Amino acid sequence: MSYERANIQRMQGYTAGEQPRGRDVIKLNTNENPYPATEAVARALADIRVEQLRRYPPPLANEFRAEAAALHGVGEEQIIAVNGGDELLRLAVTTFVGPGEPLGVAEPSYSLYPVLADINDSPVIRVPLDDAWQLPDDFAARMNSAGVRLCFVVNPHAPSGTLLPVSQLDGLAQSLDGVLLIDEAYVDFVDPAHEYDAVALTKRFDNVLILRTLSKGYSLAGLRFAYGIGSPALLEPMLYKTRDSYNTDFIAQKLATAALQDHAEAARGWTAVRQERARLARELVSLGFACEPSQSNFLLVQPPVSLPARELYERLRSLGILVRHFDQDRLRDRLRITIGTAEENAQLLERIREQL
Ligand SMILES: Cc1ncc(COP(=O)(O)O)c(C=O)c1O
Repeated sequence: MSYERANIQRMQGYTAGEQPRGRDVIKLNTNENPYPATEAVARALADIRVEQLRRYPPPLANEFRAEAAALHGVGEEQIIAVNGGDELLRLAVTTFVGPGEPLGVAEPSYSLYPVLADINDSPVIRVPLDDAWQLPDDFAARMNSAGVRLCFVVNPHAPSGTLLPVSQLDGLAQSLDGVLLIDEAYVDFVDPAHEYDAVALTKRFDNVLILRTLSKGYSLAGLRFAYGIGSPALLEPMLYKTRDSYNTDFIAQKLATAALQDHAEAARGWTAVRQERARLARELVSLGFACEPSQSNFLLVQPPVSLPARELYERLRSLGILVRHFDQDRLRDRLRITIGTAEENAQLLERIREQL
């Protein structure tokens, strides 16, 4: 006999990207930052004494909230600190979507979204992106007519890396009846020439929640720290009702605060990732790959027909290079490759040349 709720019994869990044990693997499969976190973060870690862990941490991570608020030019009441972006996604579902009420996603996108819907026993309204990975014009209308309470839009898009302009998000926020969660997990890698900044939307709209994470841009995926930006009214129930009492721990709060204080240093790494992204894309195109224009720290590429994506994934894997292959519509013939260090990317290209 099973004690699970019926919807939990029916659902499939999230499949995480492979995390190999050995150190010899070139790991380009889970969009981690190829460079270490900054010295300021290392110093903050070294400064922590075990005695400081005797007490509970500040429940709302106010020191961090003040830092994030200053960085984005918003008030502290517009920031919520969370234990990784995944926690914010889950909190948003718990707070804004009643069990059985629908949740909206663009298809394809982050594969955790439908899993969170399943946990909530919520149907998923999936609106396919067009051939250029853009939202169709009737996206908001379709969400509204289905009664969607919360809609996830990842920008830059994962897994294609394409970027929607703020003007389009503005239009969406105006048109949607429910909450628009803009998942900016990869936003730090956007070329500054785009002048992309959606934070102003949270001052104008009560239904916009922005997700930012320290996992990618700040090289802290192992720390589990992210934050949300939204209007005080939108954040209030998450801050004071649905959040776990101490959802972020003392060590994570200290390191995350140091990381944001030193954000100019982290930004040097973002520039390096952008340069490598352009180089890798150029080289892959010259080898016959099709490559989506990415504003993220990964590339979605389509290998030449002579080298099917799944086969190339497996061959690279056997050679100690992990990339990501998704066995789903529109992605089956592609690979998502995280931008590595210059050496890692050079090795990847070398191995691919051999396969061709
Ligand atoms: C699109 C997207 N959103 C959110 C996340 C959550 O990141 P984290 O929980 O590490 O902050 C990820 C992680 O890979 C992601 O790809």
